[in-house]
Amino acid sequence: MNLKNKIAIITGANKGIGHQCVLKLIEQGAFVYGICRSECTFTHPSYKCLHADVQSFEQMETAFKFVVDTHGQIDILINNAGLGYFGLCEDLSVEDWNSMINTNISGVFYGCKLALPFMKKQSESHIINIASIAGLEGYSQVSGYCATKFAVRGFSDALYKEVREFGVKVTCVYPGSVKTDFFRNSENIKAHDNMLKAEDVADHIVFALMSPANFHSVNLEIRPLKPKG
Ligand SMILES: NC(=O)c1ccc[n+]([C@@H]2O[C@H](COP(=O)([O-])OP(=O)(O)OC[C@H]3O[C@@H](n4cnc5c(N)ncnc54)[C@H](OP(=O)(O)O)[C@@H]3O)[C@@H](O)[C@H]2O)c1
Repeated sequence: MNLKNKIAIITGANKGIGHQCVLKLIEQGAFVYGICRSECTFTHPSYKCLHADVQSFEQMETAFKFVVDTHGQIDILINNAGLGYFGLCEDLSVEDWNSMINTNISGVFYGCKLALPFMKKQSESHIINIASIAGLEGYSQVSGYCATKFAVRGFSDALYKEVREFGVKVTCVYPGSVKTDFFRNSENIKAHDNMLKAEDVADHIVFALMSPANFHSVNLEIRPLKPKG
């Protein structure tokens, strides 16, 4: 897809991988809407922040309606917003479990549900769902987060088969550890320089978005070569 003048929506756009995707898409000439629950920290003529919590279908619906009422199209959706809580299963609070389920799974479903009626009418469009390597294998003390990312993987795999005939690509991305604010809730893991860089992950995503119409990267597994240096 040629990204010039394309309309993109990115959830969780204020920092980390989401924010780097905003910058890379603007660079390629797209107009980007960031769906952010916290106060907007970035301004650019090709960017607009829409306040919404991805856990709320009503707030997501209002945000998507604004984009469609303004442009009549959604070319790209990056379901990026996500968070993790870690620790022993019996110590994981029900509140943190629900927060991961509602953000990491329901948020992805809401985004796809709201974008697809428009995407399916267009000649080309692309959904990127950010999972994790925790959606490919389990890790001790990461059970809740792994459950959500395995769900994103299953959802994405089914969805790509459902919508490919409409010209909608669905790509699921599985990054290893990325140096972002993501680890703020972890006592054991702290972000460090041998982790992937968010800008490199964003470059890889944008490369997949720019692929020719009949070329589809279904799954992107990305890992640091030397995670421990
Ligand atoms: N970092 C890693 O090692 C890693 C590895 C694999 C996959 N991932 C996945 O990559 C994605 C991005 O993570 P990141 O590393 O960039 O983490 P990050 O720096 O913590 O950024 C996450 C973004 O998501 C937003 N967000 C969280 N809950 C939200 C909600 N309910 N509604 C709207 N926005 C919400 C955050 O908003 P606030 O600014 O308000 O907090 C933040 O902007 C996540 O899905 C994560 O699971 C991360």
